[in-house]
Parts: sequence; C-alpha cells; structure tokens
Amino acid sequence: MTVVSASRPWLALEQHCAQIRDLDLRTMFAEDPYRYPDLTVEAAGIFLDYSKNRLNAATLTSLVELAKYCEVEAWKQRMFSGDKINTTENRAVLHTALRNRSQKPVRVDGRDVMPDVRRVLAKMSRFVDSVHAGKWVGCTGKPMTDVVNIGIGGSDLGPYMVAEALTDFRLPSIECHFVSNIDGAHLAQTLRKLDPQTTLFVIASKTFTTLETMTNARSARQWFVDKTGMQDQVAKHFVAVSTNQTEVAEFGIDTANMFEFWDWVGGRYSLWSAIGVSIALCIGMPRFNELLSGAYAMDEHFRSAPLDQNMPVIMALIGIWNSNFIGADSYAVLPYDQRLHRFPAYLQQCDMESNGKTVQRDGGTAKHKTGPILWGEPGTNGQHAFYQLIHQGSHLVPVDFVVALQDDAGLQHHHKLLVANCFAQAEALMLGKSTEKAKQELAAGISKEDELNLLARHKTFPGNKPSNMLLLDRLNPETLGALIALYEHKIFVQGIIWGINSFDQWGVELGKQLATELIREIDGEIKPSAHDSSTNGLLRRYKEQLE
Ligand code: F6P
Repeated sequence: MTVVSASRPWLALEQHCAQIRDLDLRTMFAEDPYRYPDLTVEAAGIFLDYSKNRLNAATLTSLVELAKYCEVEAWKQRMFSGDKINTTENRAVLHTALRNRSQKPVRVDGRDVMPDVRRVLAKMSRFVDSVHAGKWVGCTGKPMTDVVNIGIGGSDLGPYMVAEALTDFRLPSIECHFVSNIDGAHLAQTLRKLDPQTTLFVIASKTFTTLETMTNARSARQWFVDKTGMQDQVAKHFVAVSTNQTEVAEFGIDTANMFEFWDWVGGRYSLWSAIGVSIALCIGMPRFNELLSGAYAMDEHFRSAPLDQNMPVIMALIGIWNSNFIGADSYAVLPYDQRLHRFPAYLQQCDMESNGKTVQRDGGTAKHKTGPILWGEPGTNGQHAFYQLIHQGSHLVPVDFVVALQDDAGLQHHHKLLVANCFAQAEALMLGKSTEKAKQELAAGISKEDELNLLARHKTFPGNKPSNMLLLDRLNPETLGALIALYEHKIFVQGIIWGINSFDQWGVELGKQLATELIREIDGEIKPSAHDSSTNGLLRRYKEQLE
C-alpha cells in the first residue's frame, strides 16, 4: 500500500480542505437546518454530537473513503479475531475478549481463550466476595478495611480512574488507595493512615519487573513486617495480578493468590482483566461486570455499524481531519464531571503511548502527523485556568466535552449550572464574538473611539473552534465502560490509518535503561561512565548532597 499521506483519498482530502478552508461553522449551521440531526450518533448509552466540527457531508464522505482505503474494516476483524496485529511483539490484541459477553469463542493460535477469561473472572469474584463478606482475614483474624493497589501506567491509571469515576458505587466496607509513583512520598503518605492488620495490598504488574511497582511493593512488605513482626503472614496481606508467575512466587506471594492475565492484553488496555480486581474490590463484582457489559455494547457497535455511522470511527476520522488537515496542535478532553478527574490522565497513556510513534508498520517513517498531544482537566475548573488559550490563543485545540445529564450528587442546581457551562463553552467556541458586537456592548461606557476600538479588539473571540459533545444519561459502570471502549477503538482506528502499531511501547525503554545504570553509579556499584557534561554535572551535585 502507498504511504497514506501520498494516497489518493489523502490527497483528495487535502484538496477538499483547501476548498472549504473558508467555510465557517456559523454559516454552515445557518444554511443547514438538519446539521444537528445529521451529525449526531448514539450507541451503547452514549450520544455524540459532532456537528460543531469544521466539516461538511463531503468531508465525511472523503474521510470514510480514507478509512476504506486503509482497510479499517479488515483490521477490525483481524483484531477481534485474535490475529497477531501487534507485530513487533508478535502478540494478538484481545482486550475485547475480556469483556466478551457472548458465548462466541475467541481464538489465539487456534485455542479458545474464553474459558481462561471466565475462570479468572470466577476466581476474582470468589476473592472479592470473600473480602467483602469479611471472610478473608488478616494476620490477627480481622477483616480487611483497606486495599492498596500498587502499580503504574496501565496497572494504575485505568483502575484508579474507574474507581474515582464510580465513587457513587463504592462499597462502604472497604477503602481503596492507589500508589504508583516511585517517589517515596506517595507510599509513605498512603501508609501513614493505614492499619497493617486490616490492609490488603494488590501488587498489579503485567511483567512483575517494573522498577516503580517492585520498589513500592518491597517497601510495603517491609512496612507490614516491621509493624506486625509477622514475616510468615505476608501471604494474607499481599495478592498479585500479573502474567509472570515465576516473579510473583519469587516475591513471596502465594501463587494461589495470583490473578492471571495474558500477553494479548496490553498494559494500557488491561483494566478489563484481573488488573481490574481493585475496581471490583471498590465497587463489587456485579458492578465490575456491568463495566464489562458497557464496553461490550460499544465493541458490538464498533464491530457492526457501518463506517459512516460508527461512533469510534467517526471520532477517529474527525481527529485525523483536525490534526492532519486543518492544523490542530493538540487535543483537549474536558469532562464536566469531577468524578472523571483522572479520565484525561488515563487517556494520555491510552492515546499517547499507543499512537505517539513515527515508525510505520512497514518500518518506514511517517511523513504525516501521528498521535496527538492529549490533555485536559474537568470543567468548570479548566474554564478558570486554560480556556483563555482555547478561545483566543494562537493554537487550534479541538475539544471533546463529556457530561452526564443526570445529577447524582443530590444538588440539582449545581448540576444545571454544570451542564449550562458545558454547553455554553461549546457554543462560545463555535460562535465566538465579533469585534462589532464587542463594540456595541462597550459603546455605552466608552466615549473615545480609539479606546473603544482597542478594547473591542481584546474582547473579540474568533470562534469557529471545533468540538465534540459526548452525553451520557448517567455516569454508571455501563456508560463508563462504553465511554472507555469508545476511546480505545478511536485510538485503534487512528493507528491503522496512520500506519502505526498502536500496541507496542518501545519509546519508554531508553529512559528505563539509562536510569538502571545511573542508580548503580549513584550507589557506587559501577564507576561513573562519561555522560554528557550536563548529566555529569547533575550527578556530581546529587552525590555531593548524599555525602
Ligand atoms: O513503561 C510503560 C509500561 O510498560 C506501560 O505500558 C505499562 O502499562 C506500565 O509500564 C506498567 O507495566 P507493568 O504492568 O508490567 O508493571
């Protein structure tokens, strides 16, 4: 296949972009009364309004042509059916099997993986239920009151984000904590509040070799032994989630208390696997199953809806249009929901670790822009921080707004204000404010014309800024599952079109390797090697401080 940016549909899109460059969202809305109904889609409990994007029907047709050219349908089938599409690691990509609620088999190398998936879910269920029922007791016979998930990256961001998002569904009998950072402050601050006799540690690591997680796990084990003096009771307070049985046993965790997953589950796609055991401990297994069901509903939509009515495909194509054609510099995800405060951070890993690559599947170098810089914070907080730049800055930042229509806080008047603000921001980004209008508003208070003109310039909003609006009826395990799956599939489709393997992460390795050497130099185990003058200088300063 030709390099995508030299392909016929890509070049056609470039031409089309040049033709509609001056088209304005305000005009498009004024001229087309059906724009909103035509450019909305609903699936798996999520409603997407994508009408406030700088595109028209012809743009969408051309984008769908691009998706067809890149064989998105065939790649989808390959992913769902267990082909080893993660070619650099020779692995299948089957997070969808973890939430497969049908009876259909899913095969890897000819073997159905579903019995294993169900077996681990059943084991998780027995474990979670026994903790909640107070039957899982600690070193002094007391039931567990606190769970500490120790993991990082996909073994932290997903479970932590979901546990926060589903605060309303948390069970009162157990408090959940998440420790990820190797900065000792994170672990120390968490442990300070806890009683070792009633604390259960979940060591979550696909590889069970990750420096941060293993360092935190060892320190947590030491804390437990120091506080209780019961070295032989560690097994009652430590369970593991991993693909690496040997390392789990080596650490001293009884492998009977290990929840297994498989190499066909990528770290950043793993919250649906046993990595989700901390979620299940927070909200209970029935709710965890609802999360899986919500994701499955989105999988089914993604699998079967035609490309032009397929929500993840539409979002992927709009992202490509904004970034590769109309010049967006980055992309903001702004949930109008405090419970989703970790959602942008979670998506940063999911999107940027997946598509932050320039090497193409065939080894060539992408000539086009690939994965976007993703950032965000909950609204309305962001409004009082960085929205200034989105409205009047020199960068084009397309936005995804996310909001639930139902109030769960029991403060309806807050919720009305929240929703009003969310819709208002999308409208303001699109409509902007003309200098003329700004002048009219100012005219009564300013008599000098040059002053009026100057201030009106500052109060002008260019508008015509693109956004998507994602509405959930209510934020619950099912809609959250669907929302996460929506973004996962969006990222997958973009990776296919950009010619990228979205499922490896070689770019994180170099820093890890260098850190391993540097720590040995700091500890004096090996002689300092000649670094650049900056690294040498920094090391010297740190070592002086250690002496
Ligand atoms: O360093 C990146 C990474 O490999 C992520 O992809 C992964 O989610 C994270 O580290 C944690 O890895 P593990 O679950 O093996 O500890």
